[in-house]
Amino acid sequence: MAETNTAPARYAVMGNPVAHSKSPVIHKQFAHQFGHHIEYTALWADDDGFADALQQFRADGGKGLNVTVPFKLEAFRLTDNLSERAKLAGAVNTMRFEPDGKIFGDNTDGAGLVHDLTKNIGVNLKEKKILVLGAGGAVRGVLGPLLRQHPAMLMLVNRTVAKAKDLVKIFSAFGKIEALGYDELVGKRFDVVINGTSASLKGEVPPLPLNLFTSEAIAYDMMYGDKPTPFMEWAMLHGAATVADGLGMLVEQAAESYLLWRGVRPETQPVIAALRKNG
Ligand code: ATR
Repeated sequence: MAETNTAPARYAVMGNPVAHSKSPVIHKQFAHQFGHHIEYTALWADDDGFADALQQFRADGGKGLNVTVPFKLEAFRLTDNLSERAKLAGAVNTMRFEPDGKIFGDNTDGAGLVHDLTKNIGVNLKEKKILVLGAGGAVRGVLGPLLRQHPAMLMLVNRTVAKAKDLVKIFSAFGKIEALGYDELVGKRFDVVINGTSASLKGEVPPLPLNLFTSEAIAYDMMYGDKPTPFMEWAMLHGAATVADGLGMLVEQAAESYLLWRGVRPETQPVIAALRKNG
């Protein structure tokens, strides 16, 4: 039954920048599916103002918070309890404020990516050869959930190879994972290539060799925009059978957050379709 006579339960996304976040629109549509009475806003915080803004939001009755760039590491440090996947990711994108005053921290980014790939796009990751580009915070957040799909191999490539090697040390307990430099990719082919670098933000494409894709390969950019990212354009030109941006991942990670807060997982397909249509 719709809850309309009480004050709305308050949620928000906090980041910097945050003005163009699609999260308020996404969560509003989720709440509508269940008749939940919630308010979800985008809150900007100063670079060194996250902890204060967080306390203010809680004092104002906030029940849960999504955290985005650049605060995911600080959010990790400010939680009292962490999910296993947040511990592995080393970062928190979802906080739940518990009735006893404690903060529970989760990371739903990796689950969002895996849901989008497996459920929406229909890729079975088991026994696949996966290439992940980048070794920053965004990549660290998705490695655990990807390895849990039991790929044949997960190759991690970064310009600064030492950063990829550090991640391999952390994640090798969870599956077959190796670090390489871009120049070592020549002659290797992959079924799934995931761009987790920030190159698309600068209009750049990572320095990839030709003949990277197997015949059925998918190229996935964790970034998204109004038009295909430079990586997606490159992949289309160079033989990827399917290309996708990270809009589905965004909606799926939001659905996982909603589940953590409200105990129900919203339907994501209609929300993704509406965002594709209306921007
Ligand atoms: P995020 O938290 O979004 O992952 P980050 O920690 O700054 O951001 O990491 C950015 C990633 O994109 C890094 O892996 C970076 O490679 P380096 O570690 O070698 O710097 C990668 N990156 C950024 N621009 C790139 C480009 N033009 N080509 C390839 N990799 C790029």
